[in-house]
Amino acid sequence: MCGIVGYCGPKPASDILLEGLKRLEYRGYDSAGICVGKGEDFQIIKKKGKIKDLREAVPVNLAGTFGIGHTRWATHGEVNDVNSHPHTNDTGEVAVVHNGIIENYNTLKNKLISEGHKFQTDTDTEVIAHLIAKMYHGNLEQAVREALYLLKGTYGLAVMHKKEPGKIVGARNGSPLVLGVGDGEMFLASDVMAMMAHTKDAVYLEDGELVSMTKDSYTMFDLDARHIEKEVEKITWELEQLEKGGYRTFMEKEINEQSQSIKRAFQGRLDLDGATAHLGGLNMSAKQLLNVQRVEVVAAGTSYYAGMVGAYLLERLARIPAHAELSSEVRYKNPIVEPSTLYFVVSQSGETADTLYAMRELQRKGATVLGVCNAVGATIPRESDGGVYIHSGPEIAVASTKAFTSQISVFYLFALLIARMRHFSFEEGYGFIRELDRIPALVGQVLQRAEKVKEIALRYAHHQNFLFLGRGMLYPVALEGALKLKEISYIHAEGYSAAEIKHGPIALINEETPSVFLVPDDGLRDKVITSIKEVKARGGKVIAVAVDGDEEINDIVDEIIRVPKTIDLFYPFLMVVPLQLFAFYAAEELGRDVDQPRNLAKSVTVE
Ligand code: G6P
Repeated sequence: MCGIVGYCGPKPASDILLEGLKRLEYRGYDSAGICVGKGEDFQIIKKKGKIKDLREAVPVNLAGTFGIGHTRWATHGEVNDVNSHPHTNDTGEVAVVHNGIIENYNTLKNKLISEGHKFQTDTDTEVIAHLIAKMYHGNLEQAVREALYLLKGTYGLAVMHKKEPGKIVGARNGSPLVLGVGDGEMFLASDVMAMMAHTKDAVYLEDGELVSMTKDSYTMFDLDARHIEKEVEKITWELEQLEKGGYRTFMEKEINEQSQSIKRAFQGRLDLDGATAHLGGLNMSAKQLLNVQRVEVVAAGTSYYAGMVGAYLLERLARIPAHAELSSEVRYKNPIVEPSTLYFVVSQSGETADTLYAMRELQRKGATVLGVCNAVGATIPRESDGGVYIHSGPEIAVASTKAFTSQISVFYLFALLIARMRHFSFEEGYGFIRELDRIPALVGQVLQRAEKVKEIALRYAHHQNFLFLGRGMLYPVALEGALKLKEISYIHAEGYSAAEIKHGPIALINEETPSVFLVPDDGLRDKVITSIKEVKARGGKVIAVAVDGDEEINDIVDEIIRVPKTIDLFYPFLMVVPLQLFAFYAAEELGRDVDQPRNLAKSVTVE
């Protein structure tokens, strides 16, 4: 979604802003713009389309050493040059970039119009520029504070004023903002990726906080102008992780990183001596964990499906009632919070608005909420009561892949921990760890078989509809497979429990609608085979993801993707990978923009 970059320093600002915006591209956007200041002269260039379109429009030697930039994901007003950020007041003295939504912008706009202000865009953001200009009496920090008092909604914003060249004021309420402290230069961004090439020293703003920066210094304060001291934190990601590393797309790179990323999720957390898992960040004692009687997992998108796998696993392995729910639903259903229920919010970015707001609502009601996140320093890990980082490294492709396998890794660890506290013997825990430890290598084997998946994906990519079917722990994996395919190939795909197909979806079956079945290696296998036969009897084509050695399947289905054998609990790891690959190859075959699919954003920071 929208991205912000700001820079004050000695270097040409346009280069730094454009490079920072390029790093934010992955979040999804539809237009971009920059405002570069040289003394009291502000140059604004903004364009619908990609950063490369903006880059072409920016004069090569654009002078100016401070500025702000933005990638926009439209919410108010159509996608065009005019509605792109930065926005200004009518005299052009104030320039603003903004992430978030101003809910009362219409009321404010009408009032400003009645006072003589002239508006040029359909955006909510433009009111902020007008308000700041109206409040300005020689002190930008004060003008921003006074304007913010009138705004209802969410914002991460960066502001410049012609009367105070070389200065940028930023503010945060509900939309992330981080300051980068350099040597004789300062950065402001909505995401550390935009500044990592220049500094690893970051100061994260909380809601209600503002920052004022020049190239040499910064100060932080709140809406009442009270000074705030904040810690400078180190960004732990490496710059190389933001590159494609020889792959054509980030998605392919991230799919192929999974043996390593799963290993990182396990690292230092498997305790062979105790035959259990160590999850220090939970901030809960063994006694507190023993009192947990129910687990609720709250998340959106792919993280929700990972949470569903987690819930199945917790019930099955740890024998604790567990359930996953969509964060967007939790927030408004007036959730019943019981003291003995433990909540997990799962979010790769740690910034998804639906999930963050659901977490806050649960905390308001007294819940203990643990985060399962990837982005260190993001809002969810900061505000949750504890949690576990998945350590999968930056995930840049919009469609989530390695985060899914790392998120479920964390649930395997947590399930082991809880199971060992209850009914699991040392031997059982030990056996579980031994098999879990093989998973990275087995995922590596699945990846080595990618050619077979590619061959099938290319043959089927031109179908218009797909069904993805699985049962038990493979049901959420089927849902994830369908989501992956629709996200990046735009092929219509539905995920169902294989058992459910006879209750409706089977009406869709014909020669043109292939079904992808996940065939387990457990008690449900025969039931799934029955569902496959029902599809075949109606002329449907079947692609099976099946386990090595399951030869009976050969005569029943049209195509087979094989995965190595493990114990039945672990197939979600092995079976999701071919589905990711299938979606990837199908999308490539159809010429889609795999990393930045249309209409989607990596981190959805509005409701
Ligand atoms: C967006 C992304 C999805 C992601 C979902 C949840 O919709 O496009 O790939 O699964 O948000 O994101 P989160 O960062 O909370 O895991």
